[in-house]
Amino acid sequence: MGSGKTTVGRAVAARLGRRFVDLDDEIEARAGAAIADLFAARGEPGFRALEEEVAHGVLRDGDPAVVALGGGAVLSERTRSELAGRAFTVLLDVDPETAWLRAAHGDRPLAQDEDAFHALHRDRQPLYEHVADARARDVDGLLLAAAGVHVELGAIDDLGGLVPGEGPVELVADTHVAGIHGIRAQVALGARDVEQHEVPAGEAAKTPAVLERLWASLRIGRDGSLVALGGGSTTDVVGAAAATYMRGVAWTAVPTTLVGQVDAGIGGKTAIDLPGAKNVVGAFHWPARVVCDPSLLATLPDDERRNGLAEVVKTGLLAGRPLWELGEPDQVRACAAFKAGVCLQDPYDRGARNQLNLGHTFAHALEAAAGYALPHGRAVALGLLAALRLSGLHDAVRVVEDVLAPERARVDRDTAWAALARDKKAELGSPRLVLLDAPGEPRWGVEVAASDVRRALDELIA
Ligand SMILES: NC(=O)c1ccc[n+]([C@@H]2O[C@H](COP(=O)([O-])OP(=O)(O)OC[C@H]3O[C@@H](n4cnc5c(N)ncnc54)[C@H](O)[C@@H]3O)[C@@H](O)[C@H]2O)c1
Ligand SMILES: [Zn+2]
Repeated sequence: MGSGKTTVGRAVAARLGRRFVDLDDEIEARAGAAIADLFAARGEPGFRALEEEVAHGVLRDGDPAVVALGGGAVLSERTRSELAGRAFTVLLDVDPETAWLRAAHGDRPLAQDEDAFHALHRDRQPLYEHVADARARDVDGLLLAAAGVHVELGAIDDLGGLVPGEGPVELVADTHVAGIHGIRAQVALGARDVEQHEVPAGEAAKTPAVLERLWASLRIGRDGSLVALGGGSTTDVVGAAAATYMRGVAWTAVPTTLVGQVDAGIGGKTAIDLPGAKNVVGAFHWPARVVCDPSLLATLPDDERRNGLAEVVKTGLLAGRPLWELGEPDQVRACAAFKAGVCLQDPYDRGARNQLNLGHTFAHALEAAAGYALPHGRAVALGLLAALRLSGLHDAVRVVEDVLAPERARVDRDTAWAALARDKKAELGSPRLVLLDAPGEPRWGVEVAASDVRRALDELIA
């Protein structure tokens, strides 16, 4: 009672594109009477029996939903066992004083007396702990928990406890990151049975040869897991190894770049490149855990940070919140939660996940035309300009100019146009783009006249 579960639950459901069910409302609707009246008429045992029945119906309904359970629902053993088997259960952490201030003086039968309210909270606390798969304090925290993403300064030092399972661990780091953060990760995994491997730094890790070397060097069985320590290149190839080795083993992503923590490490897309074609071989393989420790970013070179900031601005525009104004740890948390929500909603990239391509059709065309010598962040900054100009959002254009200071790319216009037309989003004739109706209101698959797209692309080129 008073945890805010209805407000948070409704917001989480909206972020996940799922139904929201408030168990108390459902009970009132089914019984055709208010909770207080049901309590008075049937007594607590009668009410609990009804509550259990309704909870059973809601939890058995195949259609995925976000459910706010009444505070007493977990008193039922049957409900607890159904939660264990059918739900991801999050305990919404709230201090009892706040809960009392919210719940008091309403018509809730068990929130009439402060001492009794606190006693009830104390009695039930062990049951809440028992059913909870995770704990959270707010909407972002809940989405992160549901996606298995742990964001915390210094989290790297708890790696031993954060990597799920008890089995042996293969730690794979890029050679550069291994030299900076490898020992710290090793120490943190200390009590576990750990073997360490290295892959080349950057995009050079995403090749069939590196993947094959990884396969050959792994010695874990199905009970073991891989831990990827590095940027998006490392998590992409290690995730691909985890997806395929022994037909799939668990893996943990420990992204060490801003791109990795706000984007690449989250969502379960794994891939390697083939000559001339990026990300064409891979699988969807959701990491069992993602550990984002913003303190690891202290050693990140400025260019790499700028790449990440472009994705932060993209995310803020999609979310409709100026996330680029936050300090780095909060930026990471908010962006990671946003991506987690979108990917949970659309794990296999068939709909909502499209929005994450905002600005990227242009960015990919410019990168290809530059022979991949143009850093991704610079290309995305330019791509965002084009998408926002086509969206008619002049204030947002100014944000991109102020925060990312994009510089026109020195590439051949016809080569860039040819690359854009080849892009898979253009399959159906005129290019299909992600545009914004307003910040926070993306629309994808928008068909835009080729001449307008060409003009927007040309404006990005020096
Ligand atoms: N799977 C996805 O959903 C997804 C999303 C976005 C991007 N990606 C992929 O991510 C890749 C790009 O990853 P990235 O931008 O994270 O960079 P990266 O992994 O290519 O690393 C870039 C450089 O930064 C260094 N580095 C990493 N962490 C460091 C640290 N803490 N301190 C100092 N140096 C550090 C690396 O050694 C490397 O030299 C691309 O291949 C892209 O396709 C994947
Ligand atoms: Zn990107």
